[in-house]
Amino acid sequence: MRDLNRLNLEGRTALITGAATGIGHATALRLAQAGAAVVVNHLGRTEQAHALVDRITAAGGRAWAIEADVSDGRAVSAMLAQLAAVAPAVDILVNNAGIIQEKPFLDTTEAEWDRMLNVDLKSVFLMCRAVLPGMVARGQGVVVNIASDLGILGRANFAAYCTAKAGVIGLTRSLAREFAPAIRVNAIAPGPVDTAMVSLESMSAETIELELAIPQRRFAQAEEIAATALFLASDLSRFYCGQVLGPNGGSVMP
Ligand SMILES: NC(=O)c1ccc[n+]([C@@H]2O[C@H](COP(=O)([O-])OP(=O)(O)OC[C@H]3O[C@@H](n4cnc5c(N)ncnc54)[C@H](O)[C@@H]3O)[C@@H](O)[C@H]2O)c1
Repeated sequence: MRDLNRLNLEGRTALITGAATGIGHATALRLAQAGAAVVVNHLGRTEQAHALVDRITAAGGRAWAIEADVSDGRAVSAMLAQLAAVAPAVDILVNNAGIIQEKPFLDTTEAEWDRMLNVDLKSVFLMCRAVLPGMVARGQGVVVNIASDLGILGRANFAAYCTAKAGVIGLTRSLAREFAPAIRVNAIAPGPVDTAMVSLESMSAETIELELAIPQRRFAQAEEIAATALFLASDLSRFYCGQVLGPNGGSVMP
């Protein structure tokens, strides 16, 4: 059994979706600092993804950027094929890519609903379906899914997002049961985080105010969520299975 006190990820490869910005970016850096080789998945963020890869490699780490729309099964397969050429296996999968939309439920179109569910939930299904067979074959692996506190709380004008994130939690628990003990599947349900996703450009002032009405009265930094991802990716969390960790400033107290 590995040393319980190991946050060291040397010898492991981590694939992080939507890693060019925000929480994914911070997680890629954190896992790389812990010694993991890092695959930076992105969509249309070539410059930011390559800057991140350069930063990791300049610090002595290993990293690759691969563009793929993780809501598209064919694009996911192509990414995995591309990845096989550089890294032998994915040991850690962080399903982080996501989008959000503030929209009254009755104004939400079918296309908007489908897009939200495809990017925020189906992508997790597609990525897990692509990566888990390798983990099963090797008898080990870790999956960390980024859900949201809103997947637990629900929020007016965010029905599609909340539904998708609640789905991520259900998928996490189901996969945790199906693939234990060899593979550990857990989720993180962050509270509000200071990234492009939560801004006055993407949300109303009322929603931002609501997001801040939590006991800690502030947004998290992306690094605070990345710290939880590092914990779940490491052997330190080896008895965690199907759990939803909540770095949320007190928005949810189960
Ligand atoms: N910011 C918050 O307050 C908050 C709170 C709870 C959960 N989350 C979740 O954290 C995750 C990261 O969000 P963030 O806050 O860092 O915002 P962000 O917008 O910086 O990051 C999301 C990333 O996903 C990428 N992406 C979107 N669609 C994609 C696709 N189809 N394929 C590949 N990549 C795609 C984007 O390009 C972007 O880089 C999301 O799943 C989000 O729902 C965020």
